Amino acid sequence: MKIAILGYGTVGKGLVDLIDNNKEKRNIKIQSILVRDKNKYKESKYAHLITDNIEDVFNKEFDILVELIGGLHPAYEYIKRALEDKINVVTANKDMLAEYGDKLVTIAKENHVSLRFEASVGGGIPVIKPLTESLEGNIIHNMYAILNGTTNFILSKMYDEGLSYEEVLKEAQQLGFAEANPEADVEGYDAARKLSILSTLAYDRRVYWKDFYLEGISKIDMKDIHYAKKMGCKIKLVGQSKLDDKKVSGFVRPVLVDNNSLLSRVDNEYNIVVFNGDSVGEVSFVGKGAGKEATGSSVYSDVIDIFDNRLCNIDSFTKEKIKVEKIIRNNCQALLRFKSPKTEEILEFINTYVDSYDIVDSNDDELVIMVYVNSEYKINNILRLIKDEGYCKESKKLLKIS
Ligand code: HSE
Repeated sequence: MKIAILGYGTVGKGLVDLIDNNKEKRNIKIQSILVRDKNKYKESKYAHLITDNIEDVFNKEFDILVELIGGLHPAYEYIKRALEDKINVVTANKDMLAEYGDKLVTIAKENHVSLRFEASVGGGIPVIKPLTESLEGNIIHNMYAILNGTTNFILSKMYDEGLSYEEVLKEAQQLGFAEANPEADVEGYDAARKLSILSTLAYDRRVYWKDFYLEGISKIDMKDIHYAKKMGCKIKLVGQSKLDDKKVSGFVRPVLVDNNSLLSRVDNEYNIVVFNGDSVGEVSFVGKGAGKEATGSSVYSDVIDIFDNRLCNIDSFTKEKIKVEKIIRNNCQALLRFKSPKTEEILEFINTYVDSYDIVDSNDDELVIMVYVNSEYKINNILRLIKDEGYCKESKKLLKIS
């Protein structure tokens, strides 16, 4: 069993350790490891395998290309080349699947080889395989999930330890959870890409990540955390999608979740994915969503599946793109924060347009209200009216999901 590995960062190292730890059970031979600068690895135990020239990789014989360099280019070109050479590919690259999944699955099929990507979603949690194999007999109606370890880690530390956003982000980077450019984590792109991969597979239509409503956690402050605590909630970056009448709706955004909910018990770098299938009902998968060993474990399982001839290609990426609705059209509640001295005027508006509301806090500095409405449109309209009247320039809105 011969493999070539592209990338020797967090996940690459995790995979190499797993191969080493399991060498009595499985004899996997690493033919080469591609890095950016091989001079940095002169002291490494694997220095003899390390190269910074892709031609060295392709000049050796191997059965599986494991792509762990991330990003779109040149990862796309390397994977394409391997598939066209009839070499199976394992990747953890969610950015690429979300962008070029259709093209790569087509090339894999044309060349009768396999493209596997368990590690692209949920880190160490087996979720792609259960979704596409174990739940195959189900129509998946909807899913909700925490899909980014870095942001869950940040929100957990802000909540539990009162640490600032910037302090915790640094820690998450040191622990190897964050992306090379952490903007992808904190602005929700990474979670949206993962949600689009799961939604594509679950609904068997191509769902494009940029079509979701998308909001990251960079504007969450300690006051949001304070109000969440006051209401018996936590704040989580949640991805949710739903298939309804040939239309998908979905978002990735920070939301309030009740302390008794499933989502609120998933902290730090842990992820959770919950599917709702017509036969199975609600089924959830929880585990470490980021980190060296956990993600390495998923990559390793894909490699073993290919060696054991459990080959499959999932067609869903090649299906027609489906329309995605960004707004919540059913009953919802949201915490609204208004920094303004015109609290009376604002309350009058709320009274007129909202079915029901609770005042969470009202002080010289800020008016904080929980509103209950039958569509998110209503909230957006009220916020626009309040702004247009000049009562409050900038308000904050945080949905609560149950
Ligand atoms: N940056 C990602 C996360 C890594 O924090 O979840 C795992 O995909």
